[in-house]
Amino acid sequence: MKTSAVPGFYKKPLAERLALLKEFADLTDEEVETLSQTGALPEDLVDRMIENVVGTMPLPLGMALNFLINDREYIVPMAIEEPSVVAAASNAAKMARESGGFTTNSTDPIMIGQIQLVGVAHPNAARMTILEHKPAILEKANEQDPTLVKFGGGAKDLEVRVLHTARGPMVITHLLVDCRDAMGANAVNTMAEAVAPMLERLTGGRVYLRIISNLAKYRLARARAVFSADAIGGDEVVEGILEAYHFAAADPYRCATHNKGIMNGIDAVVIATGNDWRAIEAGAHAYAARSGHYSPLTTWERDEEGNLVGTIEVPLAVGLVGGATATHPTAKANVKLLGVKTAQELAQIIASVGLAQNFAALRALATEGIQRGHMSLHARNIAVMAGATVEEVDRVVERLLAAKVVRVDKAQEILEEIRGKG
Ligand code: MEV
Repeated sequence: MKTSAVPGFYKKPLAERLALLKEFADLTDEEVETLSQTGALPEDLVDRMIENVVGTMPLPLGMALNFLINDREYIVPMAIEEPSVVAAASNAAKMARESGGFTTNSTDPIMIGQIQLVGVAHPNAARMTILEHKPAILEKANEQDPTLVKFGGGAKDLEVRVLHTARGPMVITHLLVDCRDAMGANAVNTMAEAVAPMLERLTGGRVYLRIISNLAKYRLARARAVFSADAIGGDEVVEGILEAYHFAAADPYRCATHNKGIMNGIDAVVIATGNDWRAIEAGAHAYAARSGHYSPLTTWERDEEGNLVGTIEVPLAVGLVGGATATHPTAKANVKLLGVKTAQELAQIIASVGLAQNFAALRALATEGIQRGHMSLHARNIAVMAGATVEEVDRVVERLLAAKVVRVDKAQEILEEIRGKG
């Protein structure tokens, strides 16, 4: 009898876990071999990173070129499965560098830890009591992480909100923690848990949740770039990009896709550097909706000279210490390649890539559409799927594109013809 309930799966040696899967899903030896590859990650490291490991899931790693940010040159690693994203970022960065590239800045790396208090008899008075005890609360929090404090980080401030919910009022304390070069979830969660009993004593309420907020609105990275009308194809293109931007600003259906394009660039660098892209995604979209109207993470305007000016502002909780950033060999090599010294610098590069990606998408959409750019890579995949060899691929792609029919059956037809002639 097939069952997914396998007690002690995690304790079994890797080979046994794989054998179990082979049996469960009738996998071939080749499929098992594929699953078991660990690439750049040593087997014992993978096995310690998550639970029930059997192998790894590789992604292509490409390099975005041409990035000039605050007058410094960067080659930016991007891990992503989607064709065209790396080429689009590189192209956009090339156009931006004609007017000096990207200029960036950021806030301090402040994260919010939330502590939820319920059953508080006088929530507004409790709020004041908590605020009155700020020095003691911050001290308790900072005792948890002397290393972070030594590097200039730590709990810096408090916010207390009275939240009116369907289950009555709640008193929500925000611990504002400067995480320096850490993403910060561990430090913040530990601090939130440590101060919770104090908040209960002060208010007579009961604490439930003690957890970081991914709406990292105090940990923002920003970038700006000017694209000269000449460099990007003229006034018509500037006009088209402005129309596209205002469509997104007015319409959440379009805006979700607009921001998705930005996240194509952001996530790819976040993944390549071993950071938590789910946290970044959650933060970005929550930030985009902070006014109550889901809005673009970028802005686009025309300046007095007729050039296009783009900006981006996005929460970016990325780190350089702790987690996969510090243990994943590929992530470590990518961080070295970037040459970044602080998490804030990394965040600013990522913001620049997001802006570049958005520019490239809007330019393509407002002019030839995105399918043309996608098509040649898509055609390559189709040619390979149809069975083309390395020597045959280019000829098949060329003929698929010329025929404007990019389908496997067409590729097979072309292959038969080529082979017949050969
Ligand atoms: C595709 O992955 C991303 C785009 O749809 C973004 C956009 O529409 O702005 C091209």
